[in-house]
Amino acid sequence: MDFSLTTVSPERQAVPCVVCGVFAKRRLSEAAARLDHASRKAITGLLKRGDLEGRLGQTLLLHDLPGIAAERVLLVGCGPEEEWNEHKFREVIAKTGAVLAETGVTEAVSFLTDLAVPQRDLYWKLRQSVEVADATVYRFDRLKSKKDTPEQSLAGMRLSVPSNWEGPKLSRAIIEGQAIARAVRLAKDLANLPSNHCTPAHLAAQAKAVQKAHPAVKVRVLNGAQMKRLGMGALLGVARGSHEPPLLITLEYRGTRASAPPAVLVGKGVTFDSGGISIKPAAAMDEMKYDMAGAASVLATLQAVAELKSAQNVVGIIPATENMPGGSAIKPGDVVTSLSGQTIEVLNTDAEGRLILCDALTYAERFKPEVVIDIATLTGACVIALGAYASGLLGNDEGLCRSLLAAGTASGDRVWQLPLWDDYQKALDSPFADMANVGGREAGAITAACFLSRFTKKLKWAHLDIAGTAWRSTNKKGATGRPVPLLVQFLLDRAGQGEIKGNGDAG
Ligand code: BES
Ligand code: MN
Ligand code: ZN
Repeated sequence: MDFSLTTVSPERQAVPCVVCGVFAKRRLSEAAARLDHASRKAITGLLKRGDLEGRLGQTLLLHDLPGIAAERVLLVGCGPEEEWNEHKFREVIAKTGAVLAETGVTEAVSFLTDLAVPQRDLYWKLRQSVEVADATVYRFDRLKSKKDTPEQSLAGMRLSVPSNWEGPKLSRAIIEGQAIARAVRLAKDLANLPSNHCTPAHLAAQAKAVQKAHPAVKVRVLNGAQMKRLGMGALLGVARGSHEPPLLITLEYRGTRASAPPAVLVGKGVTFDSGGISIKPAAAMDEMKYDMAGAASVLATLQAVAELKSAQNVVGIIPATENMPGGSAIKPGDVVTSLSGQTIEVLNTDAEGRLILCDALTYAERFKPEVVIDIATLTGACVIALGAYASGLLGNDEGLCRSLLAAGTASGDRVWQLPLWDDYQKALDSPFADMANVGGREAGAITAACFLSRFTKKLKWAHLDIAGTAWRSTNKKGATGRPVPLLVQFLLDRAGQGEIKGNGDAG
């Protein structure tokens, strides 16, 4: 979708639709009041009949109001004014997008950006409007022979700004919002794409497409033989059960001098997780096509920073493989040797994410990183602990964890920290190898991170468990594109480009 800014008043907008807010008890926002005035109280008249009370998410579409240049006016309920906040702002934008998608409106002007949101400035409101509105028109229909997208659909949105606006900062809100929105689309597309299409080779091809569009990104792909020579026994152990060849994909974005240490993002790229010999139950196994959502978020984040020409160096590392129960698959009890030299007893072949990540994390050392963040749909336990709202955060560097928490609050793509205390490490003791790949049933998200921590001792490292946030299994089943907004925010902040101050509300 296209976005631009406008300073023209609502009654003079000659477009298919003008959108403005109404608070509970029919309290008109400033834009709605102007429309009401220009239409000689047509709006107040209609509201008095009881058509719209102003409850959150309520909508009323009006046509051909007198004295108003736009063909339609969409009134959106914002709830009680004293309860109005940033989460409701996002909800109202999403509702607007959904209603407009049902009409034949191709272009709309939103005056919702005029509503004051506690602790958030205009930059934030514009960027969120772009991200949320774009997400509402996202469809994944490339594998359908008849497309879902209607012939006439919302293609452009203008966002109202006051006439004394601070030009460069606000156009950056649009540019950054659009880069994030595009990256979120890419991440969703990859995670929605099933594993017979989205193979490790497909991920590598996508990385090369990013390189082609942005020459500041250099892609290298290692095959199984090359990984074997390096000694990546853990990653290759997972790949053994599948006919699909594993790949290690690296994307290097150079946005500043070569000597500046990069931020390294490592994304779990299991293109299908059957569980291997420790096979998963049949119910919802289809969803394990999104077990590469971490990889997708890394690819997409690199695309966004390259598009924004961010002044920093960023490296993406994607270990990509299937986890299948073929005749050569690793079996419970097998011991593999990781790239770090540490040996691992594979007690459960379904705990495969940590096995491919540990070799990729050791590999990350060669980039002499400033910080390393891994992103993985790692544990069902994290879904139980935090649900769909927060990604799990664990790490060995408090400064890095704090930056990620702040980026989560700023972007609305939130994370919550879990403890990585030594007490949990002993769950991984093994009588036959340096460690086992699983702990017991308790604290599964934490013991998974404990496993990874044994491979990141030389690094400033954080781990994001996105098993609960990267996918929606309820209504509107599908990929969410998280944590792309979080990662882009973190990197914008890192380069000193971040415009949003954390609002102090970590919740
Ligand atoms: N990919 C799964 C984690 C997962 C589960 C993601 C549900 C999304 C939704 C991971 O590879 C896995 O199977 N983890 C096991 C670990 C266990 C064997 C210690 C799990 O969480 O059950
Ligand atoms: Mn698994
Ligand atoms: Zn998995």
